[in-house]
Amino acid sequence: MLEGKKVVLAYSGGLDTSVCVKWLERQGAEPYALYLDLGQGEPSEDVKTKALEIGATDVFVRDAKAEFAREYVAPAIKSNALYGGKYPLFTALGRPLIAKKLVEAAREVGATHIAHGSTGKGNDQVRFDVTTASIAPDLTVVAPVRDWNMSRPEEMAYAEEHGIPVPTTKESPYSVDENLWGRSIEAGPLEDPDHEPTEDVFDLTTSPENAPDEPQYVEIGFQEGLPTTLDGEELPLVELIAELGAVAGANGVGRIDMVEDRLVGIKSREIYESPAAIAILAAHRELETLTLTRDVLRFKTTVEQRYAELTYEGLWFTPLKSALDAFITETQETVTGTVRLKLYKGNCIIAGRSAPNALYSKDLATYDPNSTFDEAAAAGFIALWGLSARQWASVNGDTAHSPAPSQH
Ligand code: ARG
Repeated sequence: MLEGKKVVLAYSGGLDTSVCVKWLERQGAEPYALYLDLGQGEPSEDVKTKALEIGATDVFVRDAKAEFAREYVAPAIKSNALYGGKYPLFTALGRPLIAKKLVEAAREVGATHIAHGSTGKGNDQVRFDVTTASIAPDLTVVAPVRDWNMSRPEEMAYAEEHGIPVPTTKESPYSVDENLWGRSIEAGPLEDPDHEPTEDVFDLTTSPENAPDEPQYVEIGFQEGLPTTLDGEELPLVELIAELGAVAGANGVGRIDMVEDRLVGIKSREIYESPAAIAILAAHRELETLTLTRDVLRFKTTVEQRYAELTYEGLWFTPLKSALDAFITETQETVTGTVRLKLYKGNCIIAGRSAPNALYSKDLATYDPNSTFDEAAAAGFIALWGLSARQWASVNGDTAHSPAPSQH
């Protein structure tokens, strides 16, 4: 059914997607490989040559870091996006962009199909497929690894049989995905949620034990909800994330260990390293407490949780997500200022915050006698605020809300 079809494949250079190239070629398709740099680092070998050797018709290597930062990470910062209150969503944010780039490449070469190397157990297949359905419903998605259900040893054997170069380094027991917003590590011994991860799991963070004995301070400057300066130096978002991530990671900040609810219903154990995300989100939330009203802060929390779920569940290009974006963007106009963080042995501690439009007023809050707050008005306010509680108690008695006495 793929005979003579042009197929654009998301290609990482690893075993899964290398095997996909060969498989597509053997189906009689014309496979085009697309390698995207989202900040996971340069490919270790010449990906282009390798894909061509395996049988790709053509290979595109594209740098999408700036677009990823601007269109995906930036909204995630403004919305304090954390799935399950912990996961900064870097993989989930990357997938819709990869799908978008696959679609763009498909349009360039006139392809009817796009392909990815996701398995049938994870969230990524959903994100690729649903994003494609949202932005290019005329294209067909092929997922050879999912549909084929090959085990890793079988893939290795297939690779050997067809002369696909397989990395000669000792196979790591972990499955890793990385981009500029973070790194995820799963599988192997981590599948036991009671097993503490060993140091070989980590790449972006030092263990708190080995972190420096002196705290390190960093100052993050924000403009309308986005970080723009680091210790006073103006930096593009991609560089700011990289520099801050290095400092935070060296101080042991950014390790996350969680049991996560996947979209397909499975609970999975995940280890994440997201030093820059943890520091930026902590600072951003802090600045919001200084610059947003109580009502906006409270309501935004609800929006943030929904936003994180939509991102996680592959619903990035949907009307609800766009509508929430509009709300979030509107809230960020006054989120400008500076937050100072103390990074110390795995802790990211707020050391100070300031903002030109801070709603905090020392004159109102001070316990000094010259405070401008009208304490006399408080008594009347409280009398009315508590009126309905008082009324309830006078009708029903003060025991109406007490727990029933225990029978035991
Ligand atoms: N559990 C995370 C998510 O669903 C990370 C997935 C990592 N993906 C991978 N192919 N290793 O977003």
